[in-house]
Amino acid sequence: MRRKVTIVGSGNVGATAAHWIVDKELADVVLIDIIDGVPQGKALDLLQSGPVEGFDSHLVGTNDYSDSADSDIVVITAGLPRKPGMSRDDLLMKNYEIVKGVTEQVVRYSPGCILIVVSNPLDAMVQTAYRVSGFPKNRVIGMAGILDSARFRTFIAQELSVSVENVHAFVLGGHGDTMVPMPRYSTVAGIPITELLSQERIDALVDRTANGGAEIVGLLKTGSAYYAPSAAVTEMVEAIFKDKRKILPCAAFLEGEYGVNGLFVGVPVKLGRNGIEEIVQIDLRPEEQVALNRSAAAVKELVEIIKV
Ligand code: NAI
Ligand code: 2OP
Repeated sequence: MRRKVTIVGSGNVGATAAHWIVDKELADVVLIDIIDGVPQGKALDLLQSGPVEGFDSHLVGTNDYSDSADSDIVVITAGLPRKPGMSRDDLLMKNYEIVKGVTEQVVRYSPGCILIVVSNPLDAMVQTAYRVSGFPKNRVIGMAGILDSARFRTFIAQELSVSVENVHAFVLGGHGDTMVPMPRYSTVAGIPITELLSQERIDALVDRTANGGAEIVGLLKTGSAYYAPSAAVTEMVEAIFKDKRKILPCAAFLEGEYGVNGLFVGVPVKLGRNGIEEIVQIDLRPEEQVALNRSAAAVKELVEIIKV
C-alpha cells in the first residue's frame, strides 16, 4: 500500500519538505494551507516535476482536511515564521492557536498517524499537539535537534575542512537560545572535537550553532530557514517509514528521563515504525545537566503561559 504524508502549512518549510519527500518517493503527499490556491498550485507544480525528476509519488494540494484522511504521518508547519528582531517566543500565542486548531482537524481524519511538529516555538508547539491530540507520546515528535546538530556539523566540517559525512554532532535541550550543544559527543571520524579543536574555537562554533536560526533570519530579512529544516523533517519521515531505528535528536515527551518531567525537550531518540521507539539516555556531566535544566526551564515557562 502507498504511504501517505500530509503536510499542514504549504509555506517555505512545508512545500520544501514535500519536494524532498516526493523526490525520494517516500510517500504520496497532501499539502494543506489556510490560503486558497497556494497548496493547490504548489502541489500541481511539484507534481509536474515528476516526469523530469522521475518520481511517481502523487501530490494533492487542498484546504480541506478530509483529503488528509488516513495519513501515516502528518507534519505540522503551519504558523508564522520569525521576522527579524522577533524571538521565537514572540510567536507563542499566535502559533499556539494555529497549532491547536490544526491538530484538532488532523486527529479527526487521521487518528492513527504519527505527528511531526515543526512550528515555533517548537517545544511548546509539540507539547500543544501532544495535549490536543491525546496521542501516545511515541506518536508525537518535534523537529529541531536534527536541524541544530546539522548546523553544528556544517560549522565543524568547515572549520576542519573535512567532509560533513565524517562529522556527527550532538545537541540537547529546547530549540532556542538555551539549546545545549555537546562537544564531547561530537566527533569527526569517531574522534571527539575536543581533541581536534581549541576550547576557544569550540565555543565559537557552539555560539554560532545556538544562534543559527537568527543568522539565517538576519540574512533573509523576510522569513526564516527552510532548506535544512525541511531536510531534517524528511530524515525523520524516512527513518519512520523504513523502520531504520535511527538515533536522532528530536523533541520527545520526557517523564523523568534526563531529570525532566512532563515536558518536550530535545534528546536522542530511536526513530522507527512506531515513531519514538526509545529515548536514548546518556550520562551528563554536572555542567551539562545544569545547562539542560536551564533549557528545560525555558520551555516550561512557555508551556505554562499556554497551559498545555
Ligand atoms: P511560511 O510562512 O513560509 O509558511 C507557513 C504557512 O502556514 C503559510 O503558508 C501559512 O498560510 C500557513 N498557515 C498559517 N495558519 C495556518 C492554518 N491555521 N492552517 C493551515 N496553514 C496555515 O513559514 P515557514 O518558513 O514554512 O515556517 C513555518 C513554521 O515553522 C514557523 O513557525 C517557523 O518558525 C517554524 N520553523 C521551525 C523550525 C524548527 O527547527 N522547528 C525550523 C524552521 C521553521
Ligand atoms: C530556525 O532555527 C526558525 O527555528 C527556526 O531556523
